[in-house]
This record gives sequence, structure tokens and C-alpha cells, in this order.
Amino acid sequence: MKITIVGTGYVGLVTGACFSEVGHQVLCVDKDERKVNMLRANKMPIYEPGLDEVVARNVAAGRLRFSTSLAEGTEYAEVIFIAVGTPPGVEGQADLSYVEQVVREVAEHMSSYRLLVEKSTVPVNTAEQIKRTVLRYSRKDVAFDVASNPEFLREGTAIEDALQPDRVVVGVESERASQLLRAIYEPIIARGGGVFVEMGIASAELTKHASNSFLAMKISYINAVSRICELAGADVEQVANGMGLDRRIGRQFLKAGVGYGGSCFPKDVDAFVHLADQLGYDFDLLKNVRQINEAQRDHVMQKIRHELWVIQDKTVAILGLAFKPCTDDVREAASLYFVPRLREAGAMLRLWDPVATDNFKALYPDLAYFTDIEACVRDADLVLILTEWSQIADFGLERLRSLMKCPVVVDGRNMFDPKEMRAKGFAYHCVGRP
Ligand code: UDX
Ligand code: UDX
Repeated sequence: MKITIVGTGYVGLVTGACFSEVGHQVLCVDKDERKVNMLRANKMPIYEPGLDEVVARNVAAGRLRFSTSLAEGTEYAEVIFIAVGTPPGVEGQADLSYVEQVVREVAEHMSSYRLLVEKSTVPVNTAEQIKRTVLRYSRKDVAFDVASNPEFLREGTAIEDALQPDRVVVGVESERASQLLRAIYEPIIARGGGVFVEMGIASAELTKHASNSFLAMKISYINAVSRICELAGADVEQVANGMGLDRRIGRQFLKAGVGYGGSCFPKDVDAFVHLADQLGYDFDLLKNVRQINEAQRDHVMQKIRHELWVIQDKTVAILGLAFKPCTDDVREAASLYFVPRLREAGAMLRLWDPVATDNFKALYPDLAYFTDIEACVRDADLVLILTEWSQIADFGLERLRSLMKCPVVVDGRNMFDPKEMRAKGFAYHCVGRP
């Protein structure tokens, strides 16, 4: 089938590449000429493991193309996925101006039936606004449908998540839209890719916010438990293991640490609170989820202050700038909380990340960046771990201790065994463990 994807960010590009991988003909449209030119030259604008190979393979096979023209995208396929960004607005609500722009332009160009699919995370009832917009800007005799198909892929494992999803959620209100989306996902489901669930559009839209907020809630829950563990002398890793073996609870997303970041959880929790409020429900539970997440960062900052006493002129090496491993994405990353605070307190910062350095440098160009851990931690008074990159685990504790001025490690990701760290001579501070 022919498919157009609008927006080649983390979601749009992976979705388009994976649709082509299962045999569809895909045109990816992005208004950013630089990105499109990079993609045409087979250079990836983002770091996502395996993405470059999937893109190269399908471009070579003639199934995947890139364009800056939305007119061409509208003409190209009957089904158009909208995957442009929906960043947070001033009050936490999703900013839908990019979605609106795309819909307007598609409406102006469409000359026969089109199915517009919301792939970006949007508030419930956005489909109604999209329909109104299409009716307003299109020729009146052109039929169309709107559908919701929320994306659940995680950065770092996006290809696998897209090709082997647990479920594909589709919100439709016409048989035609249902048939088209079933045909698109048929090869993915046939490969063993989970369950195809069809529902009303509003329910599909809500499923996305409800799922992401639930996962964020799980993380905040275990982070709250980690604080109690610290006060009670218990170990949050052991508690999470004990809890997670109950299949109703599950071990995933029970990793205590410095809190969640990324382009989704912080924004989606805020947007869901805002949306609930607008509909007349005070979602206090989720407000607490957000507060616990923020408090977790403050709490780790306290550990640093406590250990260093005076931060001024201390050398702090930060390992990990990305919001999680295997991505170059720094949106809402813990590093963006700690770097300005430590800098303001007068610390001399040394920063290391294997792939996210360029994105971070764009925000803080004048800091000291290192391409290897060895150079980064040399003579440090304190090492702060913010992303659980495997390179940190593999670096070697003896080597780390011998390089540092003082062997103090504040580990926001619970990467090491506290007993072993103590035995190796470190002052080691982690989260929720004695
Ligand atoms: C996506 C979703 O769209 C967002 O709703 C979800 O919550 C997170 O994932 P992401 O893919 O991370 O966002 O966004 P981003 O990397 O910002 O990519 C969006 C792309 O759309 C950019 O390449 C941008 O150039 C493009 N774009 C934006 C357009 O092509 N046209 C526009 O009008 C606006
Ligand atoms: C998330 C959702 O998982 C995905 O389904 C949705 O489509 C987009 O948002 P992503 O943001 O890419 O994906 O990464 P995820 O693996 O969910 O991690 C989000 C944040 O939570 C990271 O900062 C991570 O470090 C943190 N996290 C995750 C924890 O602190 N503890 C955990 O147990 C799990």
C-alpha cells in the first residue's frame, strides 16, 4: 500500500521506515529541508539503533522516499499519518499548531478521498477539530476520514517496538478507515506483532495519554517507595523484585532513580492533567506523579550537596546526558536539571555521553565535553551518573577510583552494588538502597 507520513522525527521516521520494511510504499514528508536532504543522502538526523540500516535497505528497494512537499505527500497516498511534534504549550496543554497547519495544507491539496491518521500524541477529541478544519479548508465534494493510531514506541528500541508491538490501537468511525488501517498493519500483525485493537476515536486518543501517564505513575510510585526505603533501611531493588514477580504488577518500569525524562512522559502527564481539568476532573493523582518526579531530582541534588559540602570549585564529572540509554535525545533529561544547578553553584563540570553530546552542546556550548570516560572522570571530586549507559558499567571500578581525586559517586540510576562500591573504597550514594 502507499502511505504518506508527515513529520520525520523520532516517531514519524521510525514509523515510515518500518512500514516500508514490511512492504509498503512510503513517502516521508518533513518541512525541514536540512533533515530531508540528510535523509536523501542516507544520513540519519537522529540516533536510533538499527534505523540507518532499515532506511538504507528500503530506500535501495525503492519503497521509501523523502520530500519537503506536503502537496506531493497529499497527492501520493490515500492514507496520511500525521507525526509532527506536539510540544507542551504554556500551561502544559499540548501545542497543536503544527498538527493544525498540516491538516489545513492537506485539506487544501486533497482532490479525492483521504484518511488522516493522528500518530502524534494529541488530547482526546482532537479528531473532531481535525474534521472541522478539513471541512473548512477542503473542496466540499471530497470525502475523507479521520482516525487515531497512537504510537507506543520507545526511543532506543523503536524499531523493535514498531515491528513487534504488544498492540496496535486504532480509533476509527468508518468501515473504509478500518479496512485501510487493517491492511496497513496486516503484515506487522502477521509477523507476530501483537493484537490489533479497534475502538472509537476518542478512546484511542485517550489510550495514549492513559498509557504513558500510567507508566510515569509506576516510576513515581517506585521512586516514592525508594524514599521510604532510605528512611527504613530497606533496598528498593529488592522491594521492586519482590513486587514485580506478581504478574499483575510486573517488574518493568519499577526502576527507581533520578526520575523520568524524555519527550513523552513529562509532557504527556502535564497534558493529561490539563485535559482532565478542562473536562472538569481534577486529576490530583497525576499532579502527585509529577511532583514526586521533580522531588526525586531535588533529593539527588541534596545528596550531592551533602557529600561535597561546598560545591564551588569542585570538579564534577557527569556521565550520561541523554534521557535514557541508546538515544541521543536530551529532551527533559535529568542532565538539564543538574547542569545549570551545579554550574550556578560554581562546580567545574566535565560531561560525557556516547551519542547525546552534540544535542546537549547546542544548549550549553561552553562546557567541557569528553568523548571517553577516562578523560572525563580524571581528577574529579565527584562522579554523577545520570544515564545507565553500558560503557559506565564496563569501565571498571578500580580504574575509576584510581583516576578520581576523591572516590565519590552519586548514582542516579542504581548501576552498582552498594556493598561492592564500599569494599572498593568509594563513598557511594544511590537511590533507595542502604
Ligand atoms: C513525536 C510526536 O509527534 C509527539 O506527539 C509525541 O508525543 C512524541 O513523538 P517526535 O517524533 O519526537 O514527536 O517529534 P520531533 O522529533 O520534533 O519531529 C517532528 C518532525 O515534524 C520534525 O522533523 C519537524 O520538522 C516536522 N514538522 C513539524 C513538519 O514536517 N511540519 C510541521 O508543520 C511541523
Ligand atoms: C515512552 C513510552 O515507554 C512509550 O511507550 C511512548 O511511546 C513514548 O514514551 P520513551 O520516552 O522513549 O518511551 O522511553 P521510556 O523507556 O519509557 O523511558 C522514559 C523515562 O523513564 C526515561 O527517562 C527512563 O530513564 C525513565 N524510567 C523508565 C525510569 O526512571 N524507570 C523505569 O523503570 C523506566
